[in-house]
Amino acid sequence: MLPPVQPTRTRASSQTKFLLEESQLPRRWYNIRPDLPTAPQPVLHPGTGEAVGPDDLAPLFPMELIKQEVSEEPEIAIPEEILDLYSIWRPTPLYRAHRLEAAIGTRSRIFYKYEGVSPPGSHKPNTAVAQAFYNKQEGRTRLATETGAGQWGSALAFATKLLGLECKVYMVKISYEQKPNRRSMIHAWGAEIVASPSEDTDAGRAIRAEHPDSPGSLGIAISEAVEDAAGREDTAYSLGSVLNHVLLHQTVIGQEALAQMELAGAFPDVLIGCVGGGSNFAGLAFPFLREKIAGRDIDVLACEPAACPTLTRGIFAYDFGDTSKLTPLVAMHTLGHDFVPAPIHAGGLRYHGVAPLISQLAVDGLIRAEAYLQNDVFASAMVFAGSEGILPAPEAAHAIHGTIETARAADEAGEERTILFNLSGHGHFDMGAYDRYFAGELEDVALDEDEMSRALRALEGLPTPA
Ligand SMILES: Cc1ncc(COP(=O)(O)O)c(C=O)c1O
Repeated sequence: MLPPVQPTRTRASSQTKFLLEESQLPRRWYNIRPDLPTAPQPVLHPGTGEAVGPDDLAPLFPMELIKQEVSEEPEIAIPEEILDLYSIWRPTPLYRAHRLEAAIGTRSRIFYKYEGVSPPGSHKPNTAVAQAFYNKQEGRTRLATETGAGQWGSALAFATKLLGLECKVYMVKISYEQKPNRRSMIHAWGAEIVASPSEDTDAGRAIRAEHPDSPGSLGIAISEAVEDAAGREDTAYSLGSVLNHVLLHQTVIGQEALAQMELAGAFPDVLIGCVGGGSNFAGLAFPFLREKIAGRDIDVLACEPAACPTLTRGIFAYDFGDTSKLTPLVAMHTLGHDFVPAPIHAGGLRYHGVAPLISQLAVDGLIRAEAYLQNDVFASAMVFAGSEGILPAPEAAHAIHGTIETARAADEAGEERTILFNLSGHGHFDMGAYDRYFAGELEDVALDEDEMSRALRALEGLPTPA
């Protein structure tokens, strides 16, 4: 008879990985809306200025997702079929970063939740499988979407493949060129993929006519995917971030992390995530913010690129989610819907706005934000890869940089913090960006004041939040 597996570590403080059983997968998503101190602003119809209703959104989304978008229920049950798909990669591991702590010589304790273990390599399939499931349940056979870094496009291609749906991905042109292997991955899961702006939609053709060299942006790719979905009965639109229901689906991350921090015998003083549209940040932070709103002291830090500083320099205003003004108006921190961020290598963070729920939390002072230059971010990514071994996605490396800066500041102040950050994805398809960093070719771009004033003029005449 084989000997049973023996426990080799007895003390949580010396352990590296904190793992949950498949049976411990969260069975409900956490909805932060009813716990928010300030109710979120209504979503407005751009033509009438009135709040949009479910019927306005029905051409684009299945009714179950529309209900989740406006739900005031504190928790929403996760259907068995979705749990079954989650079990392919969830629960994801939580690590104590002993080696990073040693490398930077900090007295603080650093933990990270690693979402790069999913088949596409990031947190994005947490919502992709849910969205594909509800669409299929309500009879849609095809989904259209945008992708920045390619992580979302590959996550939706993966989900639609598993559920037997068709998928079309509009991939931001600069990422399409920078990341041929992400393209191949999307292809391998059977989705159709084009560089955006493309010749396939009116929105794409109009932008190409005006700016033939446009590198594209998430705002432009969203316009194309929305137009595609609105024009076909069989097709719904699927968004990888920003919307309430997307953030909701990501809360499995934070719920697992709460249980894993308990296994580690610790609780974070500081929570850190990178923010593009805001979904991985929300996924980790919302279940902890529930505790903060109830009175617990936690510093919650959102990390963004200086080239697209939505939370740190954008204004809280009603704006369109896309460049061609096809979406409803949402109240969020924005740099203006026609702002095209510089082509930095964290493609997934190049979005002019941020999730309305995250904006409201920033307005209410429950979270704060910092913006970083890309060479600093890549330098921190190398410290992490050289100590913990994982090569992070450039987006996730913003959270690593925020963590290292936070630990250093604590050391200087003579404090010991417990820091938890979200490592939202691996960077195995970002090696071109690393090569450019090694060659000293990465440009540090901070958004220029004149360009920001120009872009913000696009908000003139739009309603202002109450
Ligand atoms: C690995 C990774 N992290 C973070 C993001 C940013 O998106 P979000 O803010 O919705 O998490 C992306 C977007 O593509 C991504 O690929």
